[in-house]
Amino acid sequence: MADTLSITDNRTGKVYEVPIKDDTIRATDLRKIKVTDDDFGLMTYDPAFMNTAACRSAITFIDGDKGILEYRGYPIEQLAEHSTYLETAYLLLYGELPTQSELDTWTFHITHHTILHENIKNLMDGFRYNAHPMGMLISTVAALSTFYPDAKEIGNPEARRKQIYRLIAKVITIAGFGYRHITGMPFAYPDNDLSYAGNFLNMMFKMTEVRYKPNPALEHALDVLFILHADHEQNCSTSAMRSIGSSHVDPYSALAGAAAALYGPLHGGANEEVIKMLTEIGSIQNIPAFIKRVQDGEVKLMGFGHRVYKNYDPRAKIIKRVADEVFEVTGKNPLLKIALELERIALSDDYFVKRKLYPNVDFYSGLIYQAMKFPMDMFPVLFAIGRTSGWLAQWQEMLLDTDQKISRPRQIYSGAARRDYVNLAERP
Ligand code: ACO
Repeated sequence: MADTLSITDNRTGKVYEVPIKDDTIRATDLRKIKVTDDDFGLMTYDPAFMNTAACRSAITFIDGDKGILEYRGYPIEQLAEHSTYLETAYLLLYGELPTQSELDTWTFHITHHTILHENIKNLMDGFRYNAHPMGMLISTVAALSTFYPDAKEIGNPEARRKQIYRLIAKVITIAGFGYRHITGMPFAYPDNDLSYAGNFLNMMFKMTEVRYKPNPALEHALDVLFILHADHEQNCSTSAMRSIGSSHVDPYSALAGAAAALYGPLHGGANEEVIKMLTEIGSIQNIPAFIKRVQDGEVKLMGFGHRVYKNYDPRAKIIKRVADEVFEVTGKNPLLKIALELERIALSDDYFVKRKLYPNVDFYSGLIYQAMKFPMDMFPVLFAIGRTSGWLAQWQEMLLDTDQKISRPRQIYSGAARRDYVNLAERP
């Protein structure tokens, strides 16, 4: 059996052989299918990239039908149980779990790059008192490129490594400063003796105490949430990271673009929308009426559905367990009851069953964040912190992939045919 696809072009009667590798044909192989010699050749039309692989990647594996998620081959369940976010970030970036000394060096460098230049702090001070922290994060990450001119050296592995340290480290400081800005609190500086998640909690919530001591259960829960959000193969924001990075711009500019993509309510903004939705539903009695509105196409059930998962999102399962740990410390989020009942009803409802709509990672994450006293505006920022390592791993993989060039999709032109300019006075 040959690994090829035979295509008959019924416009010309010609037959073409196209190689199949990894259950995929190369779109450029279709270009030889032409009606005339000066024809451009056949293209594929795939809005929203529903069936187009844009890269080879060895980072994250998802089987959406079976609900499987693995980073570098390691199941997400095992990483959530045994690893830490910084170890997982190392794994994503370098392909293997670190040795003790590799992990120590990695942790040391991340920890020692958390400080922001004071001018960045001043820049953040300039935001309006009610600026959305995700808007602040996007702009401030972009501004970092002006502080580190060596970031342009994307072909230099050492320069890349330095920007990776800086970005993973500084994203928590920017997030913390953003929160302090909107709450009118003085900025809290990083504490190098704390873990990554603990340090972030310190920069968020430190009050007048000399030394902030994070609650170990909350610190651990947050670390697990960062692991769960660290990568998810070629999603909207990661595609943005790769696409922007393919122009060989510095990683700060590319990551600001990726974060902007994440901000949208159909992507990382969904966790915020879930809380708004649960609050609007208000009580269990109102759920059937809400489900009816979803069925009538009036509203979406936020936190449900996924482009790839047509089964329970494995991250949502882990998050439910984390939620229990957090609620033991904080007390139950009163919206949990509504969420659980909504999930129960939705999973047995024909509309959702037929469309294979299951809870995704965002359905429960917002409830945990809210119980931990993060304001809703911070939810997409929390997602961006975890995803920073994944974006950087995908960016570096793209740069080292000799198959890659600048991203440049094709189009089918559907506008007016050539016509001559009409002077203003002569227009009808
Ligand atoms: N509520 C109600 N109906 C839904 C939902 C939902 N949450 N999601 C999908 N559907 C319906 C669609 O209306 C469509 O129905 P139809 O066939 O009758 O037209 C069908 O299910 C298929 O949905 P698509 O929109 O084609 O699925 P797509 O893969 O394009 O969208 C998406 C995926 C954007 C995640 C979608 O499910 C959605 O909007 N969910 C709510 C937002 C959300 O939770 N986003 C977070 C995603 S996970 C993440 O980024 C971390």
